[in-house]
Amino acid sequence: MSKIKAPKGAPYARILGVGGYRPVRVVPNEVILEKIDSSDEWIRSRSGIETRHWANDEETVAAMAIEASGKAIADAGITADQIGAVVVSTVSHFKQTPAIATEIADKLGTHKAAAFDISAGCAGFGYGLTLAKGMITEGSAEHVLVIGVERLSDLTDLEDRATAFLFGDGAGAVVVGPSDEPRIGPTVWGSEGDKSETIKQTVSWNELHAGDVSKLPLDSEGNVKFPAITQEGQAVFRWAVFEMAKIAQQALDAAGITADDLDVFIPHQANVRIIDSMVKTLKLPEHVTVARDIRTTGNTSAASIPLAMERLLATGEAKSGDTALIIGFGAGLVYAASVVTLP
Ligand SMILES: CC(C)(COP(=O)(O)OP(=O)(O)OC[C@H]1O[C@@H](n2cnc3c(N)ncnc32)[C@H](O)[C@@H]1OP(=O)(O)O)[C@@H](O)C(=O)NCCC(=O)NCCS
Repeated sequence: MSKIKAPKGAPYARILGVGGYRPVRVVPNEVILEKIDSSDEWIRSRSGIETRHWANDEETVAAMAIEASGKAIADAGITADQIGAVVVSTVSHFKQTPAIATEIADKLGTHKAAAFDISAGCAGFGYGLTLAKGMITEGSAEHVLVIGVERLSDLTDLEDRATAFLFGDGAGAVVVGPSDEPRIGPTVWGSEGDKSETIKQTVSWNELHAGDVSKLPLDSEGNVKFPAITQEGQAVFRWAVFEMAKIAQQALDAAGITADDLDVFIPHQANVRIIDSMVKTLKLPEHVTVARDIRTTGNTSAASIPLAMERLLATGEAKSGDTALIIGFGAGLVYAASVVTLP
């Protein structure tokens, strides 16, 4: 018989608070059109995006994450020293090691909280939330800070007309804590690595370092381009529209509710046409509030769901206690969906 004590956690977990940070600079489509042959009308009608935010030099990954986290901690009504773990989902922190989470945990004033980064693209928030739920019910942390933060403007090729208009910068954070009732439903998640080539970084850091110009992408003036995110737009679009609605439905089924029981739908903000198509396939009733934050935020990858959540609550379009379906999907390809109660 094992002598090891069983861990003791809370019966369930819930989101206690949310916070967001959007960079000061608002970038309209006109700025994007300086480098690509396109039009404001095309970008709006094909993606839904009107403006996005781009970070300045001071708005680093850590700085944006700290701003969003401070708001989430205040919203949760706790103090930073009560946080037992900090999970940061990002693909745009440019140091392989150490994780940016440790700096964020320290600067926020946590008491030596466990801290680590995860790389799960645009599903990163859902992956982090799932880990947080596990830590709380297993007992290794009472409160977990889950942050999605991106400076995708650093990884955008402004001469690539397939992606130049899509991406934005920002940070969203939630505090997850104990609950007496289930307030975060089962996660439906997974990966399809056979499609990993459909969204990827153009060249790896070591290919860039090797500097073999014959193998590196060059800009219109012949200079080596910094690595950027590239995607097969149509293939990703079809996958998102056909496969992700099924995953969203599975998350509803797993939570034991139907679309009629929902108040809010917060899908990853990748393209307003993907959002509209999912709403139709899931047959969401009129009363369900749908996040369309993409219009003024663009695609901020791991930050998109918490940023959209924060805005819906701040504008009063959603309210505390509402039942929301969240689904993230992206590079990997990976996905994660669940039903949550809004903080
Ligand atoms: C990127 C995206 C908006 C492009 O929209 P689309 O309707 O698929 O566009 P297509 O690539 O099929 O191109 C359609 C036409 O527009 C043209 N086009 C492509 N980019 C353009 C641009 N920026 N401006 C104007 N025209 C453009 C193409 O050349 C093509 O012209 P043609 O019909 O004469 O050949 C869309 O594919 C998308 O959102 N994909 C998924 C993104 C996503 O979910 N990413 C997840 C990452 S987390």
